[in-house]
This record gives sequence, C-alpha cells and structure tokens, in this order.
Amino acid sequence: MNRRYIIAGNWKMNKTPAEAAALIEEIKPLVSDASCQVVVGVPFIDLPAALEATKGSQIGVAAQNCYWEKAGAFTGEVSADMLREMGVQYVILGHSERRTYFGDTDMTVQKRVRGALDAGLTVILCVGETLEQREQDITGEIVAMQTKIALGGVSVEELSRVVIAYEPVWAIGTGRTATAQQANEVCALIRSVLSGLYGPEAADQALIQYGGSMNAANAAELLAQPDVDGGLIGGASLKAPDFAAIVAAASR
Ligand code: 13P
Repeated sequence: MNRRYIIAGNWKMNKTPAEAAALIEEIKPLVSDASCQVVVGVPFIDLPAALEATKGSQIGVAAQNCYWEKAGAFTGEVSADMLREMGVQYVILGHSERRTYFGDTDMTVQKRVRGALDAGLTVILCVGETLEQREQDITGEIVAMQTKIALGGVSVEELSRVVIAYEPVWAIGTGRTATAQQANEVCALIRSVLSGLYGPEAADQALIQYGGSMNAANAAELLAQPDVDGGLIGGASLKAPDFAAIVAAASR
C-alpha cells in the first residue's frame, strides 16, 4: 500500500473569478511543500482564473460537475470535453448537493462518470448516506450501491482516474464530523466493494477521501486512519490557512 493523499477543496458556489484568483494566490505559497495532491474545485465561471492562477504550481483544478454528452442542444450545460480542452484535470461528480437540489441520481452520475473518463478527466466521485439511512443501519448498502452504479462500465485501468469521496450527508456543512472510526469504517467498506469489482490490487491502490466538516483541527486524526487517503473539504477550503493546515496534515 503506497497511496498518495489527495486534499481537494470544494468551493461550491463561492467566489467570483477575481476572488478565486486572490484565494489561490494566498493558498499557493502555503502549500508549495505539499507531498500530497492538492486540488481546488471551483465554480465553472472561475475555471479560467483558477487555471491561470495555478499555472506553474502543483495545485490541480477541478470543476464541480459536467454533462455526459459531448455537445448539442443542452442549454446551460458544460461537457467534459470542454473542461478538458481548457486544462481542467479533475471533476467532482455525484456530490450530495447535486443529488439533493439538482436531481442527480445514481444513473445520471454513472453517465457523467463515463463522459468525464472518456474526456480524460480524473473523477472525484462522491457517495454517502443521509442521517435517516445511517439510523436505519443501511449505510453500507447505500454507499455500496452508489459506488457500484456510478462505476458501472468503468474498467480497472480507468479506475486509476477515479477518486472516491465518502461524504456522509449529515456531516456536510453541519460542523458534525464523522468520527475517525466511522470515516474509516465506511472508507474500508468502499475499498472492499472495489476489491469485489476490480480485485484486491486495484482496490489497494484506489484513493478514498473523507469529506464532511473536515477542518484544520480534526484533519490529522481522520487522515491517520488506514483507509482514509485524503479529504474533500468544503467550508474550510475557503480559508487559505485552514486549507493549508489540512494539506500539511496530509503531507506528513
Ligand atoms: P463541509 O466541509 O463544508 O462540511 O463540506 C463538505 C463537502 O461537501 C465537500 O464536498
């Protein structure tokens, strides 16, 4: 097992292009020594500014969604090819906010994953249970189903361009973090699902992040778990010192 951590900020619908460039300028010197992968996931409209600001640095840029068709009459949508051509390397897919507010389903997430991989992007695939599902003790079933459906048709070679983010919905933006043990338990379960689909070697190499109220204070403990290979950070990724502290915790 020799997995390199990945710390990705999900800025959600925050920051104008000028603000995005300024935040990246602030983050850049603070993460220049990072040994983990560092990614910022910005709104579509901020992508050019983010790509420009990260040029020559080791910070990767992610979009927060993409459509599965390459082009056509799909008003308001952005294709994976468009992202790829501009230099975007990553795309966050299946985030619970997309599923809750914008009608994403396991099947549409599967199509988006297909489109993104075909375009050459690396996917950060979000899965996670709601509070009701956890209380009904079906976390394992839900997360396994989301993972399996999203990866339908994804080859073992392509799996190396998929990062899975376990984000319990009840922990997102609530300040209520999963315990390190809860986070590790579900990340380990996802790894066992991957092992069933792709074999133990591929599962051992796969990167599985935790997301949900991860911050500068709790990152080290979460990242110390054997099956947690990084973080997908919302609120704390909008503050350069906090994001940098999480990157530092992942760089040890
Ligand atoms: P918070 O870190 O704000 O809880 O958000 C997590 C998240 O949704 C990252 O995708």
